[in-house]
Amino acid sequence: MKGIVLAGGSGSRLHPISLVASKQLQPVYDKPMIYYPLATLMLAGIRDILLISTPEDTPRFEELLGDGERWGIRLSYAVQPRPEGIAQAFLVGADFIAAEPVTLILGDNILYGRMRLDDIVRDFREGALIFGYPVRDPERYGVVEFGPDGEVLSLEEKPAEPRTHLAIPGIYLYDTQVLELTRGLKPSARGELEITDLNRAYLERGQLRAQRLGRGIAWLDTGTHESLLEAANFIAAIERRQGLKIACLEEIAYRQGYIQLSAISALVEAMPVSEYRSYLEAILAEPA
Ligand code: G1P
Repeated sequence: MKGIVLAGGSGSRLHPISLVASKQLQPVYDKPMIYYPLATLMLAGIRDILLISTPEDTPRFEELLGDGERWGIRLSYAVQPRPEGIAQAFLVGADFIAAEPVTLILGDNILYGRMRLDDIVRDFREGALIFGYPVRDPERYGVVEFGPDGEVLSLEEKPAEPRTHLAIPGIYLYDTQVLELTRGLKPSARGELEITDLNRAYLERGQLRAQRLGRGIAWLDTGTHESLLEAANFIAAIERRQGLKIACLEEIAYRQGYIQLSAISALVEAMPVSEYRSYLEAILAEPA
């Protein structure tokens, strides 16, 4: 399974902070936003990851994240020249995907909790898999409707009158048909290749599954100043309560067995004195 993180868009709703750097480079409490979706993929066991962003921001991501070797993953980069839709990521990343299934995550989606994505990825065989998550304001998202046996009845993108409260989070699993089906999409009224249209193409083939995400999972939005602050407060509350960090990539790489303890030591030594460094030093000092 390969992974794509799409970190495009102008982030115009975050003006003027998005003038400095793209939304996904902004902090969410104590680390850049992009760490969170990367952590989600790493925890799912996905280690070959393509990051797609704008022509201006792609070099900034590359400077921040490098080739991923320090976390035992392989990071590569590609540019989406214009914001022409989420599904366009598959066209931009066609060579990267080659003939493998792929998980796409949006660079501004923060998922926290035990959604067992590692098992889901391991068991994924064919078709497409999306999720449904209850929100108060479904009209802002893609919305899914389930039938009595959990089958998908309908999909709508930002409906004025949503049929359900189940929004579709920005994480999707696709099999090798994804390129062919994306190539068959037409741009929507807003001029984008819509991810919801791609999902509908799978639905029409009878190959779309959707899984309801339970109440114990947090899916946080970061698109506005308020939601960004709420996400930061949520991360801060949990981290301060537990003394454990969410989305600390060095820790995840170590605990997943992607890097050895000695490799973290070298990383830590190169870090400036900071709370992040102290946290990792404490991990290094853990009894084996
Ligand atoms: C996009 C998708 C939408 C999905 C959302 C998740 O919306 O089009 O279906 O629910 O991401 O974050 P956008 O962020 O482009 O408004």
